[in-house]
Amino acid sequence: AWEPEEEERPRLGASGPVKVKVPAKINLHLGVGPARPDGYHELSTVYHAIALHDELTARRGDTLTLTMEGVGAGELALDDTNLVIRAARALARHTGVAAHARLHLRKQIPLAAGLAGGSADAAAALVACDALWGTGMTRDDLAAIAAEIGSDVPFLVYGGTALGTGRGETVSPVLARPTTWHWVVAVADGGLATPAVYAELDRLRALRAAPPALGSTDDLLAALRQRDPEVLAGALGNDLQAAALSLRPQLADVLKAGRAAGALAGIVSGSGPTCVFLAYDASEANMIASALESAGVCREARTATGPVAGARVV
Ligand code: C5P
Repeated sequence: AWEPEEEERPRLGASGPVKVKVPAKINLHLGVGPARPDGYHELSTVYHAIALHDELTARRGDTLTLTMEGVGAGELALDDTNLVIRAARALARHTGVAAHARLHLRKQIPLAAGLAGGSADAAAALVACDALWGTGMTRDDLAAIAAEIGSDVPFLVYGGTALGTGRGETVSPVLARPTTWHWVVAVADGGLATPAVYAELDRLRALRAAPPALGSTDDLLAALRQRDPEVLAGALGNDLQAAALSLRPQLADVLKAGRAAGALAGIVSGSGPTCVFLAYDASEANMIASALESAGVCREARTATGPVAGARVV
């Protein structure tokens, strides 16, 4: 029987706007190894996508443009340095199409917060442009392109809960019976630059002033399978936390306030300065969020469940 070649299949694409929702991520376990010759650190991490979303809309256009509204509007460059533009161009280059689109970003995920907001937007751009241009990439194809944009971008193409290795770009899903976890996200005023936090960890380790490295993700994965928030609370950990606290000592007050408010555990999210707290259930999460806001230790505290899907057309 005659079968069409891959190249002969028409690229249809979308005529109307394509809207993509993408979540923020936290790391339930962030084990950081020594710096590699390329400057990156070898990671063993467990990523977790939470229900705090950005939205990217892609429309047909004659050039590639990006506009934005919401959190961080006016602070973020919208030129070729923006991860959204870089992701769209990378997809165009890989698929041989013209990088023409009008992209509009509605942001809720705070910038430089340790929640991978920029990486999320890049993942959204890959999914949105793939649909707009009809380039027919699989998730795995998009994740491979995503790895060129940043270490966290492949995870945000998949979402859920996943193991990350290498510099974080090698992602494999964590298979577990569905469980919803309840988080409180305490957003700080001002961000922390990820490279500065990794550099601070290297400095602390050279001085033997950092806590012992977390190592393997085994305990965290076993805790996830037990589906008991008190067990998961005992297994959360982040090697970057000591470095974030060293650069931003006030974060200790945030962590203390969350635990005092009844959180089962609190950790710095990624490179910070956002702190995330595990709550027993939804109503506990609401109480902890209110208590954190009343304590005045953060700009904003919001609740978010996880895991949720990665970047997807809605
Ligand atoms: O991959 P991405 O561009 O998002 O990384 C931003 C920065 O974070 C890197 O330039 C590096 O300083 C640091 N990083 C690291 N090790 C990793 C991931 C990121 O040192 N595994």
